Amino acid sequence: MERETITAGGLLLRPFVEADIPWVYEVSLDPLVRKYLQIPDPYQLSDAEYFVRQMCVAGWDSGARAEFVVEAASRPGRLGRVGLGLDGAGAGQIGYWMDPVARGRGVATAAVRAVCGWAFGRLGLGLVEWRAEVGNVASRRVAEKSGFTVEAVLRQRLVHRGGRVDAWVGSMLPSELPA
Ligand SMILES: CC(C)(COP(=O)(O)OP(=O)(O)OC[C@H]1O[C@@H](n2cnc3c(N)ncnc32)[C@H](O)[C@@H]1OP(=O)(O)O)[C@@H](O)C(=O)NCCC(=O)NCCS
Repeated sequence: MERETITAGGLLLRPFVEADIPWVYEVSLDPLVRKYLQIPDPYQLSDAEYFVRQMCVAGWDSGARAEFVVEAASRPGRLGRVGLGLDGAGAGQIGYWMDPVARGRGVATAAVRAVCGWAFGRLGLGLVEWRAEVGNVASRRVAEKSGFTVEAVLRQRLVHRGGRVDAWVGSMLPSELPA
């Protein structure tokens, strides 16, 4: 899949590059990221290398993932990450985290909207799914403000911190993306 950069909502969303590895490592040590994402624990620099090289860079090449670094359109600087896992049949699953210094400013919401708009328009997806651990209120708020409808609780559907946890699941259809 051809790499793309998105400009929307005052943000620039660009594909990952090797130079992003130390930043991915830093943010992955954040307590909320460790709590709510399925990532190795303890987290090593090699885990960040794997994420950037295999999931982000190779993911574009194979068409399995579209992963973006979020920056402000007006000035460079990494704010967060939004990505889609693609099933090859017209659906995607969204994932995101923000650098702790960039949280609480609406950046995640604007970035999620931008990626979903791109996915519906450019990739022609018919559905984007969101999953989060039950209790991850900030993630749910971002999803709902971005146009997702929370549909159900899936029992024990995620593995976090070495154990299974219940998950909220939601989805958005192209017609539901906020204007
Ligand atoms: C989830 C995350 C990306 C949100 O980033 P953010 O920059 O704070 O997001 P936004 O500013 O766009 O919106 C956050 C919303 O959640 C709300 N919120 C944040 N923490 C909250 C909490 N503990 N309880 C209730 N609401 C909360 C904010 O008030 C805001 O809603 P509002 O605009 O209605 O006030 C960030 O917290 C994060 O990186 N968390 C760790 C990783 C993670 O959980 N990723 C999602 C996995 S599914």
